[in-house]
Amino acid sequence: MENNISKIGVFTSGGDAPGMNAAIRAVVRASIYYNKEIYGIMQGYEGMISGEIVKLGARSVGNIIQRGGTILKSARSQEFRTPEGRAKAYQNLKKNGIDSLIAIGGDGTFTGLHKFFEEYKVPSICIPGTIDNDIAGTDYTIGYDTATNTAVEAIDKIRDTALSHNRLFFIEVMGRHSGYIAINSAIAGGAIAVIIPEETTSFDQLFNLLEQAGNTNRKSSLVVVAEGSKIGGANELAKKVAERSNYFDIKVTILGHLQRGGSPTYFDRVLASRMGIAAVEGLLKGENGVMVGIRNNEMVYNSFDSIIHHHHAIDAESLRIAKILSI
Ligand code: F6P
Repeated sequence: MENNISKIGVFTSGGDAPGMNAAIRAVVRASIYYNKEIYGIMQGYEGMISGEIVKLGARSVGNIIQRGGTILKSARSQEFRTPEGRAKAYQNLKKNGIDSLIAIGGDGTFTGLHKFFEEYKVPSICIPGTIDNDIAGTDYTIGYDTATNTAVEAIDKIRDTALSHNRLFFIEVMGRHSGYIAINSAIAGGAIAVIIPEETTSFDQLFNLLEQAGNTNRKSSLVVVAEGSKIGGANELAKKVAERSNYFDIKVTILGHLQRGGSPTYFDRVLASRMGIAAVEGLLKGENGVMVGIRNNEMVYNSFDSIIHHHHAIDAESLRIAKILSI
């Protein structure tokens, strides 16, 4: 492959996600396979600004494919949002001879890289890594499958105790702007209802559904609520239901950051491995200012403009299934 790339910098940024290590491993090994030097930039844009940059080899990424988190660490950098921060970052790349970048992260990461790419023209490719699955241009992001499985496992356990005590549980899952974890963990976990930011279920509709379930002898129910719910989080909804009726014995569980950790599923490991290789091969083929995605099981490249701030809509079929099964 003919190109001017010789030293690639890789980093993880934003919220960590299971499978990021598998992606780092794939980027490092693919770079070495194509006889390129590969450098790890620690803590995302923070390390680019402070110059915390380490040379990586094939053995530096041994024994990490199964590990959650990210060996390169992650951060949400405020300084990189400033022109001064980005100028320092560019100087550090130059000092280390790094001529191209691969970023693993979410929308915030891509927005930063897009700006940097416009200003300094460093060839750059992104890999979508976030549990939220909220990135346009890809059917799946790295970490989403693992996080959803974690949520389902937790929901199954809550179901046991909910059933024993005839209780109504509100279970809050992550997703500030996205209902992907919520809708699919609700379907897989057999929840009576799911509240997501993308859909407008009113509180009255939710309450009627719960009341009807009580009237038809349903003993216990689970409601999955995405963090970004527009009608209130799990605590707020539980409080509102309790205010309107004393029929229910209500409990709340917030799953929180446990959804971000743990060993990645086979799906996330394979996805991360494919995306890591596609990112390196893309750079070497001259792809630039793009994000790797998976569409109908094929690797694709999307321009930054086509993905940044574009919403990855929840498919209508998932919403339909969740509704039919909630009776
Ligand atoms: O973007 C991933 C995510 O886990 C969201 O689901 C969640 O809202 C957010 O990150 C939490 O971020 P932090 O760990 O910085 O509190």
